Amino acid sequence: MTANIIDGKAFAATVREKVTGHVARLKEENGITPGLAVVLVGEDPASQVYVRSKGKQTVETGMNSYEYKMDADTSEADLLAVVEKLNNDPEVHGILVQLPLPGHLNEDLIINSIDPAKDVDGFHISNVGLLGTGQKSMVPCTPLGCLMMLRDYHGSLSGMNAVVIGRSNIVGKPMAQLLLGDSCTVTIAHSRTKDLPEVVRGADIVVAAVGRPEMVPGDWIREGATVIDVGINRIERDGKNKLVGDVDFESASKVAGAITPVPGGVGPMTIACLLANTVTACCRANG
Ligand code: GUN
Repeated sequence: MTANIIDGKAFAATVREKVTGHVARLKEENGITPGLAVVLVGEDPASQVYVRSKGKQTVETGMNSYEYKMDADTSEADLLAVVEKLNNDPEVHGILVQLPLPGHLNEDLIINSIDPAKDVDGFHISNVGLLGTGQKSMVPCTPLGCLMMLRDYHGSLSGMNAVVIGRSNIVGKPMAQLLLGDSCTVTIAHSRTKDLPEVVRGADIVVAAVGRPEMVPGDWIREGATVIDVGINRIERDGKNKLVGDVDFESASKVAGAITPVPGGVGPMTIACLLANTVTACCRANG
């Protein structure tokens, strides 16, 4: 058996197209241009790549992009002041503070200083609480992208056994909430889970979000299961620098029913969902 490939790159292109249409209508009919502000503290190379890509795609969909680059030794007070300024700026509908922040900054404090209505990452405790109680919230972009691909592939997810590997606030926990919201039976597995291979073998849906290259081999996957690989890991192989996921694609794609590749799976969907969340925030702000 060879798995169907879930093409996140193509799916993301259709999401961006919808966003572009929506933005054009907001401009024409309401005279409003959605704006996304991204704050980057420090020089982390991976974060710089993400931020550049976010800015480029924001502009490509017709929105305004505002970038704030701050030194690695920026004080908490200075960063809070920038967030406050953006909270009060009516041209800014979405605010994203790129994580991780340098160690001297309190990430929770900074994230919770963002106006929840502009929190396009969905990381503010208000949005986390709203999502957990099934109320209208901003939904974290990576899990939202995964859910969209799963719904597109399966239609209804009701009654399916889903195993989320990883318990981060950014992916694992919100992913579990979203799957629960779609009536899956959800298990969150992590580094202390007993007999992880057996737990994963019980899954109709596996979402791997641990950040460990090719940790999930094909013999953990139930035949015909759907595998969503959130991992983006750089490794050296055969003298080359390569991007791989948390799933061993080679072996897993021989047993799974469907699988997302790395690259070209979850990654492109994350930014597409960020753009969609910015439009959502703009629409909610303007009634
Ligand atoms: N760092 C890695 N992923 C993310 C994300 O989705 N949002 C933010 N703000 N930082 C990140």
